[in-house]
Amino acid sequence: MSDGLILGIESSCDETSAAVVRGGREVLANVVASQMVHAEYGGVVPELASREHLRAIVPVVREAMQRAGVKYEDLDAVAVTEGPGLAGALLVGITFAKALAMGVERPLIAVNHLEGHIHAVLMEAETSLAELAPILALVVSGGHTHLYLAGKTTAHMWRYRNVGKTLDDAAGEAYDKVAKLLGLPYPGGPWMDALAAYGDPAAVRFSFAQIKTKAHGHAAPKLTREAAADERHFDMSFSGIKTAVRRYVELHEMRERVAEREAAFRAEGLAATKASDSAALARVRSLLDEEALNLIASFQASVTGYLTRMAMAAAKHFGAEALVVSGGVAANRELRRRMTEEAARRGLPVAFPSISLSTDNAAMIAAAAWPKLVAGQFAEDSLEPTPQLRLG
Ligand code: KG4
Ligand code: ZN
Repeated sequence: MSDGLILGIESSCDETSAAVVRGGREVLANVVASQMVHAEYGGVVPELASREHLRAIVPVVREAMQRAGVKYEDLDAVAVTEGPGLAGALLVGITFAKALAMGVERPLIAVNHLEGHIHAVLMEAETSLAELAPILALVVSGGHTHLYLAGKTTAHMWRYRNVGKTLDDAAGEAYDKVAKLLGLPYPGGPWMDALAAYGDPAAVRFSFAQIKTKAHGHAAPKLTREAAADERHFDMSFSGIKTAVRRYVELHEMRERVAEREAAFRAEGLAATKASDSAALARVRSLLDEEALNLIASFQASVTGYLTRMAMAAAKHFGAEALVVSGGVAANRELRRRMTEEAARRGLPVAFPSISLSTDNAAMIAAAAWPKLVAGQFAEDSLEPTPQLRLG
């Protein structure tokens, strides 16, 4: 092995991505092709996602290799997302990665997408952070809202224990559904985040149901009190707030204005723009009244407050030495602000990925593959997508 040059491939949802990363840290190239076709359907259409991956995979890999300025024979391994994700979407990346690894005679490494999200932070963080264990990691995206306790087994290898998860919708999914309810473009999370700045976060009060703590080790009938406490699970729920927003919209007769807004967005082609485009944001904002902006700000305050409280409670309970927040929703500015403020109050170091590594990308897959390359943990020739793959 030379210097651990890994080509990573990610195709679990609606981003086709390829990246070249050296030694698990140095990103030589990270190319992400986001599929725009889903915007007009207001959600990811699995069949279309697979077809788009098939179209994009060769140009995206070629571009990543060119930008990195490396040749295929320079690679030490090819890494690919095994799951969780959409079966057909994962299949495109896995099939391509297998064929490529075979062609260049390099090992293939299978990576759990959720571990990838955690490595998006670890790869960028100061090495001192990675030395702190256990770390409480919140992975929060359109498909996942999970809390993990991450620790090291050896100098390189990480192990994870799932200590909490959403029992229904993922936080990003709730953002997207509420945005859709208000007639905002898809995906709605970034729009909601940008628009929340113009509303009053205290205008509407939303509450989250307390989820009963449950011991998930059913096999152990008589846990001591300490062991039972250690088994505590920090489960979450986001479907209640989604329903509360729907009721609010109905009660306040906001539906009609939603229809007008959707028609305007369509007529002006705003569905294909991004919240980071300031002219588009100004136009979308002008189509929202004060009541809608207040609702958006209140939703954002409630969700980010809830995520922050749950992460802090879990960190305290398990004696975590540091916090890591990753996944698409980790791009949310209010979540970053609250987590940073609360962590500082508790004297806990906290780290987020850079914005471009928050959402799905292949750099995090190549980074997570690096310890596996060192340990010689390679995928079998029979590797298949595992849509429900779990971590910890
Ligand atoms: O990690 P990701 O790219 O894909 C999944 O693995 O799901 O996350 C995408 C999700 C979407 O639900 C999107 O609306 C949400 O992350 N998201 C945000 C923000 N940026 C992306 N949600 C709230 N605020 C943001 N700034
Ligand atoms: Zn993801």
